[in-house]
Amino acid sequence: MSTTNVYAPRIAARMANIKVSSIYALLARVLDLQAKGIHVDSFTAGEPDFDTPPHVIEAAHRAMLAGDTHYTPVRGSLAMREAVREKFRRENGLSFEDDQVMVASGSKQIISHALSVTLEPGDEVLLAAPYWAAYPGMVYAAGGIPAIAMTRRENGYKLTPNELRSAIGPRTRWVMLNTPSNPTGAVYTEVELRELGAVLSEYPALLILSDEVYEKLSYTPERPVSLAKVCPELAGRILIANGLSKAFAMTGWRLGFGAGPSALITAMADLQAQTTLSPSSISQAAAVAALNGPSDAVKHMVNVYHKRRDLVMSLTANNPHVKVAKPDGAFYALLDVSQSLMRSARFRDSERPDVAFAGWLLEQHRVAVVPGSDFGANGTLRIAFATDELTIERGIGTLLESLSQL
Ligand SMILES: Cc1ncc(COP(=O)(O)O)c(C=O)c1O
Repeated sequence: MSTTNVYAPRIAARMANIKVSSIYALLARVLDLQAKGIHVDSFTAGEPDFDTPPHVIEAAHRAMLAGDTHYTPVRGSLAMREAVREKFRRENGLSFEDDQVMVASGSKQIISHALSVTLEPGDEVLLAAPYWAAYPGMVYAAGGIPAIAMTRRENGYKLTPNELRSAIGPRTRWVMLNTPSNPTGAVYTEVELRELGAVLSEYPALLILSDEVYEKLSYTPERPVSLAKVCPELAGRILIANGLSKAFAMTGWRLGFGAGPSALITAMADLQAQTTLSPSSISQAAAVAALNGPSDAVKHMVNVYHKRRDLVMSLTANNPHVKVAKPDGAFYALLDVSQSLMRSARFRDSERPDVAFAGWLLEQHRVAVVPGSDFGANGTLRIAFATDELTIERGIGTLLESLSQL
């Protein structure tokens, strides 16, 4: 089809702030190089490099053959809602009534619904930077404005009570907490959550979004704990977003769930009814099998990520060109390369030195990393260690070598 004279519809003004992050341009270039048969050591994937466990796939197959191919209730099938409530009871020590849970097409949709049904124009959503790159766009799409609380590497990229208190303003409507974190792998301890909870209890009108999608991927003896469990006094205004994508290697199935106050869940479900209706019946059948079934596959994946995390730390230890806060969870490490970038005239003077460096690294050395400024962390690079050990050794070796030559 010719692209000339094609009618260009007027796009709503609110779309102006919804920027596609540089990740997508970088990913497109990686795919382009790979299609030409050029090898790239890529650390860009925000998803497991494992396939969905076979018993989960079999459950989906069985469900389809049994005719489970229709719409389900908007908030999710009864079996799935029960599996979600049982998961919270068993794994998090949290009891939710049926009207306090809902299922959606990914935890991202849960977050997006929550923002959409609560934000008035100009309301602020507080993000702890470095934050997941998608949050600001989701906030803008829902009519809000992202407000940033900057954390420090020295504190493991975790928000301190003082940083939280001083970032809350009169327009703050939501505080987003993501533990374990994308892009830093930071995991808040129970004590740290209690301290943040004490600050949050001073602001009774605030809503709190606890993004726990990486909950099962943790490398500490204690499992990550939910703010709702640590601070039951806040439970009436916490929304937990979680999903199947990361823990069960089910990103393509698009299934997530949320739990929180029933009035909020009802509004979110009403929005879902008018947008996507129910999530996929097939994915829900698979998710029931994942949540209720054996945990060996998840344990295996966590062990592999753990080994890779240790490998990343040993490769970067004592290297003068990068500083890394040890990730206790998820499958990301954020490398602070700001000092190396500042040494180089080539990158120092560009608008976003980390973006320029990531582009150069890909073109010159065929290593793909995500620039940290997409996560509100200029001068850093995110590597995802959801990739094999050979790639990790070779790619990080190349990266460190290139930094040493700046
Ligand atoms: C921090 C965080 N939250 C939520 C999501 C969304 O996951 P999904 O919608 O697949 O459940 C992601 C995906 O990368 C993420 O990194």
